[in-house]
Amino acid sequence: MTTYDGKKIVITGGSSGIGLTTARLFADGGAHVLITGRTRSTLDAALEQLGNKAIAIRSDAASLKDIKALAGTVQERFGAVDALFVNAGVTASAPFDSTTEEMYDELFDINAKGPYFTVQALAPLLREGSGVVLTTSVVNVLGLDALSVYSASKAALRSMTRTLARELLPRKVRVNAVSPGPVDSGILDRSMLPADVVEATKDTYRSTNPMQRLGTSEEVAAAVAYLAFDATFSTGTELPVDGGASQL
Ligand SMILES: NC(=O)c1ccc[n+]([C@@H]2O[C@H](COP(=O)([O-])OP(=O)(O)OC[C@H]3O[C@@H](n4cnc5c(N)ncnc54)[C@H](OP(=O)(O)O)[C@@H]3O)[C@@H](O)[C@H]2O)c1
Repeated sequence: MTTYDGKKIVITGGSSGIGLTTARLFADGGAHVLITGRTRSTLDAALEQLGNKAIAIRSDAASLKDIKALAGTVQERFGAVDALFVNAGVTASAPFDSTTEEMYDELFDINAKGPYFTVQALAPLLREGSGVVLTTSVVNVLGLDALSVYSASKAALRSMTRTLARELLPRKVRVNAVSPGPVDSGILDRSMLPADVVEATKDTYRSTNPMQRLGTSEEVAAAVAYLAFDATFSTGTELPVDGGASQL
């Protein structure tokens, strides 16, 4: 019997980076994982890593129609859920004076509205004692350049962690947030930025971090597993995985 043997776990944005690493941790421990993402090819590549017990569903976190359909699929395939990791998110940067309405709406739709309605849609399926984990970001307490909209969307999610934790208390469902700092999840390497810009950005993140390095997806996944299953007397909290960036 392994740690997560037979557990049913849903991970939005589970096709790459932090979400995929977390899905692998749970699948390796014997869990049944259902992951989502927008891109079929990335989902298929993730499935190859996760093995034949895993399920990959194409579902846009910003679409209420997709979220409703996802809840139907989860009910059909899993029945009840032991942990929900609401991780799908996107980042974009622009100085305040050149931010467009389109960028604002996209970031809020995916990073704040989507998670809110995902928890709402899946809440009826969450087993008593289960854990919800939301991926916020260290930037929700920092005033960094050119990240006003992304930071605000993650701060909204931080607030929802508290209010949804309160509302799900009677159902004995815990809601907590993991707050990564700069993590080498592959997100920058997969961006359209030229390789030298990617390396320069990583160098800046390293040199400005108290621990002088980037975090790993594995370090975030371990925190998610703790919040989802082991943090049985914690709800409404946020666990930073940021090398000290939000505190020192
Ligand atoms: N890496 C960091 O330094 C860092 C720091 C703080 C917070 N975070 C947060 O951590 C989370 C994971 O990021 P990551 O670094 O692992 O990046 P990533 O590798 O790009 O992963 C993002 C995941 O979310 C999915 N996704 C994005 N938009 C979606 C949408 N509209 N609907 C459904 N799925 C969607 C992606 O799939 P598709 O590509 O198929 O859409 C992918 O599976 C995000 O919420 C991010 O904001 C990351």
